Parts: sequence; structure tokens; C-alpha cells
Amino acid sequence: MPLATPAPHHLPALARLIALAFGGTADDGLAWLKNIPPSDLRFIADADAPQAPVATLALVPMGQYFGGRPVPMTGIAGVAVAPEARGRGLARTLMNQCVRDLHDQGVPLSSLFPSTQALYRQSGYEQAGTTWHVRVPLARLAGLGKSRRVVALTEADQDRIAATYRAFAAPHAGMLDRGPYIWRRVRELRGSAYEGFGVLDDSDALAGYLFLRMHRPQNPGPSEIALQDFAFTSPAAGRALLAFLADFETTGSDLTFYAGPHHPALALLPQQRYTVTSKDTWMLRLTHAAAALEARGYPAPLSTRFTIDLADSLIPEQSGPLALEIEAGRARVQRRAAGPVLRCGERGLAAIYSGLYTPRQAAQIGWCDGDPEALDAAQLAFTAGSPWMADLF
Ligand SMILES: CC(C)(COP(=O)(O)OP(=O)(O)OC[C@H]1O[C@@H](n2cnc3c(N)ncnc32)[C@H](O)[C@@H]1OP(=O)(O)O)[C@@H](O)C(=O)NCCC(=O)NCCS
Repeated sequence: MPLATPAPHHLPALARLIALAFGGTADDGLAWLKNIPPSDLRFIADADAPQAPVATLALVPMGQYFGGRPVPMTGIAGVAVAPEARGRGLARTLMNQCVRDLHDQGVPLSSLFPSTQALYRQSGYEQAGTTWHVRVPLARLAGLGKSRRVVALTEADQDRIAATYRAFAAPHAGMLDRGPYIWRRVRELRGSAYEGFGVLDDSDALAGYLFLRMHRPQNPGPSEIALQDFAFTSPAAGRALLAFLADFETTGSDLTFYAGPHHPALALLPQQRYTVTSKDTWMLRLTHAAAALEARGYPAPLSTRFTIDLADSLIPEQSGPLALEIEAGRARVQRRAAGPVLRCGERGLAAIYSGLYTPRQAAQIGWCDGDPEALDAAQLAFTAGSPWMADLF
């Protein structure tokens, strides 16, 4: 079934689907849709009324860091089916067709935050990393010192903010190589503006920044500091930003931000006195496996060869052996078998590629098997710590 791209007159009907799927009003849905170029929206129309969309999703082109390099990735957002049309396979059709289209366009990766794993597993996505929302009592930040140079940031600083973000994000597997959709959400989310503050190093370069909003969950009551972005490139900058936040303690109770197990700010806290108030496990799909394997980085000292024998249920043309030759931090991929073999489906490959599971851990869940030499070589190639991302989409 071909997917349609909306014309302006379709947008109110799509907004209704978004509102009924995620809450809010149709106007909220329309405001969200305005952040997506119409060419990145897809819908399926009612079979009996071709002008009436009953299922929709949004494509969010960006990238994701793996092995220190940004790999082109299309995020999937806003998957919504009209309540009266659910249970008929429309979401599966939307997802399968999008995955096939991304493959045909040579897009290496696709990621999403699932509300139901079962749906996205059917299209070849698998768990690949985490996103936490953490809460730190501001009183826990006391004692980090006062010496710092903080500046208020404006739109004119966007180039150096983005450069600082990229330096911060690149070593963390799973972090986004952000596009305009995510950068807009850093500065404004659901009608609330977030204000940027940066710390400068001795040569006046931006060494770290955050975007914050002060809000009061209960009135009367203390305020909370919600961060929409929190990045830095040196421990001094990280400590300076934490000390800057500590100054909000006179009227504020807690600090909240999106993180993951390896957000450096969590390691810089004097004590582990933070709570994870929610956690999401995002999913990844190798929409073009050969391109994804060639685009990412690998440990530079690693020199190895092995074959991934891929069984892809939705994209049979990328099934079969993929021989990897890894040298000097990059992989050359050829469609043939050479060396020891790791066998996996597209979902197992996603979980291993991100580094969330080592091949031996994935083998315990039945996501892969193969020659011990191949499992070990793949472990060295894809090891990532614990992949995470600090943005929702
Ligand atoms: C989730 C949603 C998109 C499913 O749409 P749908 O067209 O009814 O789904 P499909 O009929 O294509 O079902 C495909 C698979 O999805 C899974 N699925 C569908 N509805 C589900 C539900 N309510 N709970 C859990 N899994 C569900 C099932 O595994 C199903 O396959 P199966 O029936 O063979 O087991 C739809 O219910 C919806 O819009 N919900 C609200 C918004 C939302 O959760 N969107 C996803 C955001 S990530």
C-alpha cells in the first residue's frame, strides 16, 4: 500500500490523530505538525474515503553517533492511528513501508521511542539504548565552588553551542547528531521557552552550556529547574555549570534533566543522590546494514575480519553474508563470506551494533549465534559502554 504525503488540507485531520494518540488538543497537534516539513509526513487514507487520513507518522532526519562518528539516521515520531481504525494492521503497514523506503534511499539507520515494542519489533527494530529523566536535589550541589565565567547565550551563539554539543556527544554511543527538529526543542518545548547559559574557558571558548527553565509545579511551593540540554567538554566546565545551578537553591528544590548512565554530570556529582524518575529504552533498526556498518567508527587499534550472516525478514535483499574488514577505525563491507561467521537477524544486529548487548549476551537471548572468534571480534568492534541519548523525539 503506497503511503501518501499530506497536502495542507490534510493537516487538521492529521492533528486530530495526533491529539487522540498523545493527548492535548487538535490545536496542539497542529502546532507539533508545523515543526515537521510536510515532505517528512506520511499517512494512510481510509479505504472508503481517500481524503481522510486514518494513520500517520513523521520522519525526522538526523544522525546518531556510533564509534565516535555520526551515522545518518531517520527518527520515527508521532505514529498515530485513528481510534476507530486500530487493530487492522495500519501501523504495521506504515512502519514496514517506511523501513523499506529508507532502505531504498540508502539511509543507514532508524531509531524511535516505542510505546509498544511488539509493533516495532515486527519492523525489525530492537532495544538499543536508554534515556533517563533524572532528578537531583539542588542542595546536593552545594560546595562545588564559585569560580566561573558564565554568560547568557543568544541565537547568535548557535554555531558555538552546536560545536560544543558535537564534541560532547561524539564519544557517547547513541547520542543524536541533531537536526533542526531537535535544536528547536532545546530552546522551546510545548510552549515553554528554555534560556541558554554557557561557561567559557581561559581562551574565551565555549566549554559547556545548558538550557534551563524555572517552573513551579505547585503554587505556593518551591521552583524546579528543568534542563532541556546540558553539555560540556571538560570537567572544569561541568563543575562550573553544576556550581551555577547550585545558586538556584535559594528558591528552587530540584534540578531535572535528560541523561543516561554515562552522562558526565552524574559522575561529577559529589554523591549519587539522584533519582531516575523515568526511563525509556529506545529502539534501533539497521535500514541499510552495509551503509550502517561502513559509516560508523571502530576502535582505531583494532584490525580484524569477520562475517555477519544477516537474516532480514523485511528486507530480504540485504540478507546474506556481509564480510567486514576493520582497519584504522573504519570498516569495508563486502557482500560475501570471509573469516569467522556471526549469524543474526536484523533485530539482534541492531542491539549488537549499538553496543547495548555484546554478542555473547545477545546469544543468551537467542538474538545471534556463531563462531566464537566472530563473537569476540564483534564484541571488540561494537563495544560502547552503555548507549544512551539525551533527547526525546
Ligand atoms: C499503537 C498504535 C499505533 C497501533 O496501531 P494499530 O494500527 O492498531 O496497530 P496494528 O493493527 O498495525 O498492530 C500491529 C502490532 O502492533 C502491536 N500493537 C497494536 N496495538 C497495540 C496495543 N494497544 N498495545 C500493545 N501492542 C499493540 C501488536 O503487536 C500488533 O501486532 P499483532 O496484532 O499481530 O500482535 C495505535 O494503537 C495508536 O495510535 N496508539 C496511540 C499512540 C501510540 O501509542 N503510538 C505509538 C507511539 S511510539
